[in-house]
Amino acid sequence: MRAATAPGGAAAVVVADGTRPAWRPASFDRVIADVPCSGLGALRRRPDARWRKTPADVAALGELQRSLLRTAINAARPGGAIAYVTCSPHIAETRAVVGQVTAARDDVLVLDAPALLSEVPDLACPAPDGRYAQFWPHLHGTDAIFLALLQKC
Ligand SMILES: C[S@@+](CC[C@H](N)C(=O)[O-])C[C@H]1O[C@@H](n2cnc3c(N)ncnc32)[C@H](O)[C@@H]1O
Repeated sequence: MRAATAPGGAAAVVVADGTRPAWRPASFDRVIADVPCSGLGALRRRPDARWRKTPADVAALGELQRSLLRTAINAARPGGAIAYVTCSPHIAETRAVVGQVTAARDDVLVLDAPALLSEVPDLACPAPDGRYAQFWPHLHGTDAIFLALLQKC
């Protein structure tokens, strides 16, 4: 992160456990939660993972993913945007996480990510989750990246 932000020189880097944030709530206009995940979306690059990953790997990450998303939402200012991203298409790591976290609070809206990325075709998840974006190797030439965009109220 330091290397990535060094050229501009204007960014401060804070290293912290995202489940125990070292910043005040409502501190940021934009927050990305690029959460740890099974990595099943990168099978085209790491095909051996299909023999190493188990359902237990997915289940074990769920609470951490929900916790990091809750932290990300708390960190955004009213009107600010939050992106929840995984390199996985697995519903338990993607739609279920965002659905569970957002259903439990009334200070966040789910934005229409496929509409906001309208230059990219075929991103919408199946109904009723069409506001979430799912990239696919066979459609988009990318890893199977999931993206939910939220707005803090
Ligand atoms: C998908 S990677 C993010 C990669 C990052 N966006 C980058 O470009 O380097 C998920 C990251 O979350 C980190 N992580 C895991 N648990 C965490 C926690 N409790 N708090 C903060 N980061 C955590 C992992 O170490 C890993 O680097």
